[in-house]
Amino acid sequence: MKRTNYAGRTNESQIGQEVVLKGWVAKRRNLGGLIFIDLRDREGIVQLVFNEEEDKTAFDIANECRSEYIIEIRGLVRARAEANPDLPTGKIEVEVKEAKILARSQTPAFEIKDDVDASEDLRLKYRYMDLRRPQMMKNMKLRSKVASIVHNYYDNHDFMDVETPNLTRSTPEGARDFLVPSRLYDGHFYALPQSPQLFKQLLMAAGVDRYYQIARCFRDEDLRGDRQPEFTQIDTEMSFATAEEIQEVTEGLIKQVMKEALGIDVKTPFPRMEWQEAMDRFGSDKPDTRFGMEIHDLSDIVKDSSFKVFSGTVAKGNYVRAICVPGGADKYSRKDISKKEEYIKRYNAKGLAWVKVTADGYNGPIAKFLNDLATPINNRLDAKEGDLILFVADSFHVVCDSLGYLREEIAKELDLIKPGQWNYLWVVNWPMFEYDEGFGKWIAAHHPFTMLNEEDLHYLEDGEDPHKAHAQSYDIILNGNEIGGGSIRIHDPKVQEKVLKALGYTKEQANARFGFLLRGLENGMPPEGGLAFGFDRWVMLLAGADNIRDVIPFPKNSKGVEPMTAAPGTVDQAQLDELHLAVQSSTTKEDKAK
Ligand code: AMO
Ligand code: AMP
Repeated sequence: MKRTNYAGRTNESQIGQEVVLKGWVAKRRNLGGLIFIDLRDREGIVQLVFNEEEDKTAFDIANECRSEYIIEIRGLVRARAEANPDLPTGKIEVEVKEAKILARSQTPAFEIKDDVDASEDLRLKYRYMDLRRPQMMKNMKLRSKVASIVHNYYDNHDFMDVETPNLTRSTPEGARDFLVPSRLYDGHFYALPQSPQLFKQLLMAAGVDRYYQIARCFRDEDLRGDRQPEFTQIDTEMSFATAEEIQEVTEGLIKQVMKEALGIDVKTPFPRMEWQEAMDRFGSDKPDTRFGMEIHDLSDIVKDSSFKVFSGTVAKGNYVRAICVPGGADKYSRKDISKKEEYIKRYNAKGLAWVKVTADGYNGPIAKFLNDLATPINNRLDAKEGDLILFVADSFHVVCDSLGYLREEIAKELDLIKPGQWNYLWVVNWPMFEYDEGFGKWIAAHHPFTMLNEEDLHYLEDGEDPHKAHAQSYDIILNGNEIGGGSIRIHDPKVQEKVLKALGYTKEQANARFGFLLRGLENGMPPEGGLAFGFDRWVMLLAGADNIRDVIPFPKNSKGVEPMTAAPGTVDQAQLDELHLAVQSSTTKEDKAK
């Protein structure tokens, strides 16, 4: 039988018509001589009715059906006696005349429904069933829709879709590489690209002028809710373009995606915020501007305070900053605040000082030190009776990280974020370098191919401090998430060499790793720049999901394992031999843990 339409698209205009539908048995109810089956396919659910008196053969087949069996049916669409307002097809049902079981299913490992009652690992192990859930199917459709808008948009703006290799050499986006051993060259490895960065720059040298690609990237880094080892970028690059032009083209795409995928109008241009301002006001380089509770500096007010923690911090050239939690006095107990103090120690905070604002001044253990400064402090923070003030005194980064975290955490706890906001903004004028505590060295804040601000080039000269330089880089932020980033690139080989030197590469090391790019810069490289979106992250936010795994069909779990195929797995000795590899510590232990 040839299918006439998707089950989930059966509608009132078909009343009186015969349809042929195929799909999964979502639910079956036997009411004696009547069996109702909810038939599910990609587009939704429709109710089937099997009547024993009218068609015994079909009825018997329905009786045999279990959850997730696949059936095909022929039947008549009719109006339902009582409409089901929860179902798009709720006004109709299909009276079945003929039925056939196409595939059987074991009892499902979990019930296929949106408020699924199963661990994520179980869902991932049977991902193909998990993906049958309406929400997951909706997410996949949204992802497909956004990809299609992206292709159309860039195609309409003269961008060429060009593929770049996955078996390549290490590209420095700051994470560890995934390596692929070469069978032909003993002891040699391909690296999977952390991004197409160097290839897209060289495509500009090739004269492609405008490039885009929906590209897979690989980074062996610690996983979080918004990070996967394998993820997708909407990667772009433009020759002869300024940062503003790149941002404008990017805003055009965002506008179109918001309109066509979600039906939402967003206003462009988006606000631009300097990196310094983002850090000062929000304690974050990806500020969430959907709520207030901004950070304020109190260093000037408390510099002579009798509270030595504060005055001592300012004397050392550090900062005392605070947030004011509206109505927080009643909502947070001493114990709650202690928990937060404990938490921010991971940002190296030494403590979390606090006062509660009452009609007669401050309350709390350090109130006595601060009461004489209450008026200027309250004025700066716009603090009122019933509010809670949280202070952190420390170096710039510790203060920003701690208060930035508290601000976001408390906003969630107190429900301060009004839903339905789409706050896109650009963070611009980043420092070129940042100190990485983990590595114990200076790294490029964006990447080493980012162009400095012209007026900061002198910082690269001998005797100057390169770490003061700012860069022509920009991140696109949505509701406190970094959904993309880019920069104008260095196209002068001399500047590139100096930047690599500032990052600690000797000339030989720079040549060994990036010689191919440096040669590109010496052979007719146009001035150029670009940007890459984290496609998964953006779709996650568009879908209203809170985990990137919900918009990736077959993701790795938080331990980097893909539970369905049980990757990574061990391989045969013969395979290892062919690749000239010997495994030192057994991986079987890990396999058992899965
Ligand atoms: P960057 O490293 O900032 O820039 O990456 C661009 C965007 O990719 C997303 N992203 C990730 N998403 C999921 N899982 C991950 N592990 C992950 N890592 C990054 C983020 C990020 O904003 N070549 C440059 C771009 C350029 O300069 O044009 C680059 O890769 O949303
Ligand atoms: P102490 O005098 O060290 O016991 O600290 C008194 C209060 O100040 C405690 O609540 C500490 O959490 C807090 N505190 C200590 N150091 C800092 C700091 N660097 N920033 C903010 N609060 C601090």
